[in-house]
Order: sequence, then structure tokens, then C-alpha cells
Amino acid sequence: MATRTPLIAGNWKMYKTESEAEQYIQALLPRVSTATDVDVAICVPFTDLRAMVDSARGSRVEVYAQNVHSEPQGAYTGEISAPMLSELDVHGVVLGHSERRELFGETDKALALKVPATLSAGLVPILCVGETEVERDSGDTERKLRNQIGEDLAGVADEQLAHVVIAYEPIWAIGTGRVASPEQAQEAIAFIRALIEARSPEAAARARILYGGSVKPDNAPELLALPDVDGALVGGASLDPDSFSRIVAAAAP
Ligand code: PGA
Repeated sequence: MATRTPLIAGNWKMYKTESEAEQYIQALLPRVSTATDVDVAICVPFTDLRAMVDSARGSRVEVYAQNVHSEPQGAYTGEISAPMLSELDVHGVVLGHSERRELFGETDKALALKVPATLSAGLVPILCVGETEVERDSGDTERKLRNQIGEDLAGVADEQLAHVVIAYEPIWAIGTGRVASPEQAQEAIAFIRALIEARSPEAAARARILYGGSVKPDNAPELLALPDVDGALVGGASLDPDSFSRIVAAAAP
């Protein structure tokens, strides 16, 4: 069986100016320098990217953006392209976060273009998927995940699928303190892996699938020990270098 290196990614959302980001990274680097066999990423606002890439260079911390446009360039006021990010040595991009889907009208159709554009620029996409509370309560979780995975990854060739990181984030667990139970997380993530397997067994064995939604230092060990959970996408608890590094430590086997 393929071994998958766990990935702990902190999603800062719209937090931290450049000077706050600098202070953070100086505190984070020594706290994660001894963790082995775990990849560490911070997903930061565009204005923090250059400073974070410079400060993290040579360390184990990878720097990700939180959105990208699907076209390499063009008349798209206010947008940022994948080649712009890769020239900055950014490692990857979070795509399809539920806040972007719900608050900014991001569609599966747009994501179907963004994921391949990200891969072609040599960036790693972290594609977020997940159901609302109403969808879960009405037994619609699998349908939702099947649709999102099917549509968002439709433009990715089977050979490229293993390079996509998927984050399963039940929307009812994001920023609510209401974490999914280990059974719910394992079941949904195993279902997502089976969807990938139907396209490519090899990709399913190699692709990393993360859990996200109210991950904290105290619940991380249990979630990260689940057989199909290959890491975490961490929002609130990633804003403090101490709590984030404790989650990183929980992933190091
Ligand atoms: P949370 O956010 O950890 O604060 O719930 C997770 C996310 O939005 O990725």
C-alpha cells in the first residue's frame, strides 16, 4: 500500500497583515523544525505571500494561497492567476472553500477550470468539499460529495489525480467548535477515496485526503489516527503558532 505523508495545512482566511504574518512565522518555524514525516503548510492572504515564502524558504513550511483565477492572464480586475503565484514560489492553492462557495458564489463549474489551471502551473490544489447540516440530516451527504468530486475534478486527467489534495470539510463543523465524530470523518473520507478509486486505483492509494472543521490540538490525535485521514485543514486553531504546532506534532507518527 502506498504510504501517504500527512499534511497539516493552516487556513488563515482573512487574518494577519504582513507584519503579523512575519511575527507568526518566526514563532512557528522553531516549533515545527523537529517534526518529521509530516508536511506543514500555511494558506495565507495574497498580501502575505511574498514575505511568507521568503521567511519559510529552506524550512519545512510550505506557503499556499487561498484562491486563484483559472486563466493565466486577462482582463479580470481584482483577480490573481496561477503563473503569478508560481513565480512567487508559492506551493499551492486552497480551492472551493465553503466560504468562497457560499459567500462569493464560487461554482463547481469554475472549480472544474481552476483545479487543472493550478496543476498546470505546478501548484498543488487543496480542493475543499463537504455537505451542509441540512444535507447531512436529509441523508444527502454522499450525493453532495459525489457531485462535487465529479464536477470539480472532471478536467483533471487520471494520471494527475494523485497530485490533488482533497479536504473534506463538513460545513456544519467549520468555525463552530462542533467537530465531526471520528466515524463521520472516516466514513466520508473513505467514500471520497472510493470515488477517486473508481477513476484510478493508483491515484486513490496516493492522493491525500484531509479532514477540516474545528480541528484543535485536543481532538487532532484521534482524527489523524483514522486510516483514511491524511492530515487536516485547520482554520481557527492555525492562527496561533503554538496550537498549530501542537496539531502538527499530533500528525507526526
Ligand atoms: P475551523 O476552519 O478549523 O476554524 O473550523 C476550518 C476551515 O475553514 O478550513
